[in-house]
Amino acid sequence: MNDAILEIQHLSKSFGSHQVLKDIDFTVRPGDVTSIIGASGSGKSTLLRCVNLLETPSAGDILFHGENITARGFNPCQYRSKVGMVFQSFNLFNNMTVLENCMVGQVKVLKKSKAEAKENAMKYLEQVGMAPYINARPRQISGGQRQRVAIARALAMEPEVLLFDEPTSALDPEMVGEVLSVMKDLAAQGMTMLVVTHEMAFARDVSNHVVFMADGVICEQGDPKDVFTNPKQIRTREFLARFMGE
Ligand SMILES: Nc1ncnc2c1ncn2[C@@H]1O[C@H](COP(=O)(O)OP(=O)(O)OP(=O)(O)O)[C@@H](O)[C@H]1O
Ligand SMILES: [Mg+2]
Repeated sequence: MNDAILEIQHLSKSFGSHQVLKDIDFTVRPGDVTSIIGASGSGKSTLLRCVNLLETPSAGDILFHGENITARGFNPCQYRSKVGMVFQSFNLFNNMTVLENCMVGQVKVLKKSKAEAKENAMKYLEQVGMAPYINARPRQISGGQRQRVAIARALAMEPEVLLFDEPTSALDPEMVGEVLSVMKDLAAQGMTMLVVTHEMAFARDVSNHVVFMADGVICEQGDPKDVFTNPKQIRTREFLARFMGE
C-alpha cells in the first residue's frame, strides 16, 4: 500500500540556463520529519518553493496523495491550505493583529465563520504560547514571537504537512530556542514536517529523515543516525565537519 503524502520524482528546476535542481527524488509519509540540509545556494529553498508551487518545476513530478500537482488545471490555493509554509522572514500581515493573522486564511480560503476561525486560532495561539498577545501587531512583538505566530497561523489551516524554510535563521540567538521547542513539540505530536534548516542538532535529534543537498542534487539521504554518524559521501562528511564543529 502506498501511504505517501508527497512523492517528489525526478524533479528539476532551471532559471534560464542555470539548473538549480537536478533529478530530486524523495518521499514524505505521515508523521515524517524530514530535514533538508546543505550549503547556501544548494537549492534547498527552491525545492521547498517547488513543493508549495511557489515555483513551477521545469521537469519531473510532485505527487500529493498520488495526484500530480504539476498537472495543468491543478488548483494551488486549496493545495496550499493542506501544505502550509513557514518562512524565514515570518511573512505576517503587518496591518493585522496576531489574532487576525491567524483567522484570515481560515475565513478566506476555508470559508469558516469568524467565530469558528477565532476559536481555532486561539487553540493554536495557545499551543505556541502566544495567546496573551492576540491584540498585538507583528511589529510590537519579538522575532521569536512573530515566528511562533506564523507557525500558529499555518497550523490554524490544519494542514497535512508543514514546510519550514530556515525558520530560525532571521532570529537573534536567544530566540532560536523558543521556536525550535515549538517545532519539537509539533514533531512529537506527529505533525508531518519538511524543514530546511542549518540547526544540525534539530536535524540529527528531531527528524527521522535527512536530505543533504549539494549543487542542486541530493548527495545523500537517510536516517539521521546513519547520515550524521557514518556519512557515506565525502561532501556530506566535509559539510557536517564544518557545521558540527561550531
Ligand atoms: N528566482 C530565481 N531566479 C534566478 N535564480 C534563482 C532564483 N531563485 C534561486 N535562484 C538561484 O538558485 C540557486 C539555489 O538557490 P536557493 O535559494 O534554492 O538556495 P538555498 O540552498 O536555499 O540557499 P540558502 O541556504 O542561502 O538559503 C542559487 O544559485 C540562486 O541564485
Ligand atoms: Mg534558502
